[in-house]
Amino acid sequence: MKEKYKVLFKPYVFNNGVEIKNRLVVAPLTIYDSGDNGELTPTAREFWRDRFRGFGMYIMPFTNVAPNGIGFESPNAFSESNLATLKEYVKIAHQQGAKIIMQLAHSGYKAKKRMTKGYPVVAPTGDRRGRARTMTGTEVKQMVANFANAAELGLRAGMDGVEIQGANGWLVEQFFAGNINHRKDEWGGSFANRLKFPLAIIDAIDEMRTKHNRPDFIIGYRFSPERPRQGFTMKDTLALVDELVKKPLQYLHVSLLNFYSHPRRGADRKLTRMQIYHERINGKLPLIGVGSLKTADQILDAYNTGWADLIAVGRAVMLNPDLIDLIKSGNEDQIETKFNWKHAAHYRYTPAMLQAERDHIDMAIHNPRPVKKTKWKKG
Ligand SMILES: Cc1cc2nc3c(=O)[nH]c(=O)nc-3n(C[C@H](O)[C@H](O)[C@H](O)COP(=O)(O)O)c2cc1C
Repeated sequence: MKEKYKVLFKPYVFNNGVEIKNRLVVAPLTIYDSGDNGELTPTAREFWRDRFRGFGMYIMPFTNVAPNGIGFESPNAFSESNLATLKEYVKIAHQQGAKIIMQLAHSGYKAKKRMTKGYPVVAPTGDRRGRARTMTGTEVKQMVANFANAAELGLRAGMDGVEIQGANGWLVEQFFAGNINHRKDEWGGSFANRLKFPLAIIDAIDEMRTKHNRPDFIIGYRFSPERPRQGFTMKDTLALVDELVKKPLQYLHVSLLNFYSHPRRGADRKLTRMQIYHERINGKLPLIGVGSLKTADQILDAYNTGWADLIAVGRAVMLNPDLIDLIKSGNEDQIETKFNWKHAAHYRYTPAMLQAERDHIDMAIHNPRPVKKTKWKKG
């Protein structure tokens, strides 16, 4: 390995004393491939096989905390019957020497009626077209409990922790977004009320780990920087960050397509979003940075900005099942940065991912976008 990459392999110790072996994280990647009960399929197993060898931490894809939150093929964590699958994910990660964090998520109004096992689609506020109905106050409390139950299943399955999916327009973000959450009760309306759902989830998971006497169980939180047309700007997420750093979390994870992107609204547009969050967090929690880091030097340069304590990579892991091996063996010039049909077998993509390539869909931009398996045809 070239000397300059060694900094990426420095261990990191979280505030609960848990050490991860290096600064490299597999970003959560939905691969649109699971059985009817969220099980691993042969093609999913083939995709994950050996893919994160060398990484310190693997964040699992969007994992459904309740049946009424399912919007595409992904793992489930809402019943005892899911334990075997969750244990299998743990085994796959631990065999490869990576810590495994389960991403807890719910699609909210974006759930697909045909996938919710007969349960109605719900949201903080229902829509006029009747696609989703407004959750009652009791249902909101139950949903907070669902996140904690899912985390408990993860803990029992041997996960090293969980990440709350508070980004990318899913249920937790729907509660945070002023243009979606029009509730008149304690869970909506004012900014302070719109923060309550995400914060209540953190508290419920923390209580769960206290009950199990497992302070080593990691809790992370992922958020999107801004959605000007969808009810919040950088000013709002900076206020969210101010609240998150007061909570018993181990890390924050910002969802970015470009590590070096600048704010659109609500913060100094001359600075990058990463720099702004880094300064605001001010060392109170580690921040995971991500976004179009495709080569070893891009990963290194991003880390060397000092804005992120850990670096996550998504699409580079999709194209390079042996990404870290290539860096460690000094073959980083062989890292692929563009999908090439001639190497399709090497990527071990699931049928839905191959179909997205055929349709020229960038799944990170349409993120995460369900692709109907039935559309898949050979050739
Ligand atoms: C196929 C695909 C699936 C994704 N699935 C998830 C997901 O389940 N949860 C999530 O938070 N982000 C998801 N993302 C976003 C990635 O975690 C990451 O933030 C994004 O791809 C930018 O990083 P990259 O440029 O290294 O790929 C997905 C991205 C892609 C390409």
